[in-house]
Amino acid sequence: MLRPLLFGLYILCFLCSLPSALSRKWRDTGTGTIILEEAWTIPELIVQVGDTNAALGGTNVELKADLLDIHDQRLTFMNENDVDFMVVSCASPCIQGISDPAEAESMAVLVNNRLAGTIANNTERFGGFASLSMHNATNAALELKRTVQELGFLGALVNDYQQSGPDNTTLLYYDQPEYDVFWQMVTDLDVPVYFHPRSNIAQIGNLLDGHAPWLKGPAQEFAVTLSNHILGLCTNGVFDRFPKVKIIVGHLGERIPSDLGRIDEQLLRQLPLGMPMKLNASSYWQTNIWETTSGNFATPLLEFHMDTIGLDRIMYSVDYPFVAIAEGEAWVQTLPGTLNPQQLNSLKRGVAIKVLGLD
Ligand SMILES: *[C@@H]1O[C@H](CO)[C@@H](O)[C@H](O)[C@H]1NC(C)=O
Ligand SMILES: *[C@@H]1O[C@H](CO)[C@@H](O)[C@H](O)[C@H]1NC(C)=O
Ligand SMILES: *[C@@H]1O[C@H](CO)[C@@H](O)[C@H](O)[C@H]1NC(C)=O
Ligand SMILES: *[C@@H]1O[C@H](CO)[C@@H](O)[C@H](O)[C@H]1NC(C)=O
Repeated sequence: MLRPLLFGLYILCFLCSLPSALSRKWRDTGTGTIILEEAWTIPELIVQVGDTNAALGGTNVELKADLLDIHDQRLTFMNENDVDFMVVSCASPCIQGISDPAEAESMAVLVNNRLAGTIANNTERFGGFASLSMHNATNAALELKRTVQELGFLGALVNDYQQSGPDNTTLLYYDQPEYDVFWQMVTDLDVPVYFHPRSNIAQIGNLLDGHAPWLKGPAQEFAVTLSNHILGLCTNGVFDRFPKVKIIVGHLGERIPSDLGRIDEQLLRQLPLGMPMKLNASSYWQTNIWETTSGNFATPLLEFHMDTIGLDRIMYSVDYPFVAIAEGEAWVQTLPGTLNPQQLNSLKRGVAIKVLGLD
């Protein structure tokens, strides 16, 4: 009785696992870390990196060399610092910085094919997130499908809003109904979408930070601008319409979990004004949104977030090469004082294995 049943289940599970047949074998040491906000780019886009945001202690020339590399210094740093697996994605703003739709779409295909080709001989250590032109939600959905089903990518990473229009000032946010076709595809493929920051278009950047240009970039501008987009997804009801969508937000959630009490309370007052959101922002951090620790290795904040959103929503990541992998690993080494072994394993890899579908 039992045997045919088990065999039937086996066949069933084999069949149901077919769509993700590309889910790979990866180097699973059982204890190493998985990191997933890790930047790379192609020579055609290196000009986007600019000359200011060098890695700590490194020069801009080194930063650019690190961004273009996969198999040399990047892998060496991974080996030296206990990283089992890295998900690679295109450095900001990548496609979101290309205003022309046709150019953006062909560049996305180029980036995705180049990444897949580059990591093809070492998928035990490297996976990819798709780069997507978000000018047209249908085409974005189709390219996501292609990269997941044909290239074995683990999801997508978008660099905040898509700039568009002749002077770049048409900003496309994915919390609008036109993107429902994209979120439907994300749901069907069951892959996460990482929301990564970008520098604002010049017109906004100058108005916002012209008085204190030091605030451009990671210190302030990134979190302010990206958290707006994430809360747009919440308040415009994307997670109510697509309850299975998985979003990942880096840098300890771009500050949102630190402020959820006030956000929930104040948004409640918008309900009578027609806000489509059905629940509250806190609740989506239990169902749809995860965060990573990329570039934000703050133990007291981690503890606070464990209380607010829970450790099962938090994944370790670095933000290489803008942040050194060794800096992240040095922080991880301090955590046994704060987390028990099971909690540490969850942060270093356990949640990522589930969210990325690596199990
Ligand atoms: C993959 O190919 C690159 C480029 O040829 C090479 O540097 C690297 O060592 C190869 N990796 C493996 C695991 O074969
Ligand atoms: C998006 O592209 C499709 C072709 O894939 C086209 O049919 C559709 O009209 C485009 N949508 C918009 C809003 O331009
Ligand atoms: C639009 O953006 C592109 C690429 O980011 C930039 O080269 C160009 O100067 C921008 N145009 C305007 C009008 O700011
Ligand atoms: C948010 O919603 C959850 C359940 O949906 C509820 O338990 C919680 O009390 C709400 N929080 C606030 C501040 O309204």
